[in-house]
Amino acid sequence: MSCSLLKGKKGIIFGALDEKSIAWKVAKRAYEEGAQLVLSNAPVALRMGEINKLSEECGNAPVIGADATVLEDLKNLFGQSMEHFGGGVDFILHSIGMSVNMRKGIDYHNMSYVHNWKTFDISSISLHKILRVAWDMDALNEWGSVVALSYIAAQRVFP
Ligand SMILES: NC(=O)c1ccc[n+]([C@@H]2O[C@H](COP(=O)([O-])OP(=O)(O)OC[C@H]3O[C@@H](n4cnc5c(N)ncnc54)[C@H](O)[C@@H]3O)[C@@H](O)[C@H]2O)c1
Repeated sequence: MSCSLLKGKKGIIFGALDEKSIAWKVAKRAYEEGAQLVLSNAPVALRMGEINKLSEECGNAPVIGADATVLEDLKNLFGQSMEHFGGGVDFILHSIGMSVNMRKGIDYHNMSYVHNWKTFDISSISLHKILRVAWDMDALNEWGSVVALSYIAAQRVFP
């Protein structure tokens, strides 16, 4: 049941790949509660996933590709989102994670440290990069909210 809790609120949701993604469920509930959304994922995930289906279920929310580890991609994403919304966003969901070692089936004791660095960049530092770009572009509205699901999000404070 909708209580229109997010009526008039605008947000960017990162990380909806398919119906099993946490971000997918959050996007649907946020839309049901009246939010307007922009959906984003890595370009490769947009090709592999089903995000256009989610977009249709969320009022044809724009889908904008961005590798969350690449600052230029994030600047483009926030620029396009602010143009679409006619201003800043009220919320951001960071629901991003990926282990390159696991994806490649590499055992823990054989781990590639280069892959491990990339894992850290994607799963954790991307949150900082997103906040940094949002800060620099003044893209987050006053009293806006950011929710992140990686452990470091609970431990660090971005001013
Ligand atoms: N599933 C769980 O039990 C669980 C528990 C605690 C925390 N989490 C966290 O929740 C988040 C979402 O996990 P999920 O279970 O929905 O998995 P998921 O695989 O559906 O979501 C992860 C998303 O990250 C995206 N992604 C990967 N690399 C990216 C990049 N470079 N740029 C942008 N996006 C990229 C993927 O395309 C995918 O959509 C992750 O941060 C995960 O660590 C999950």
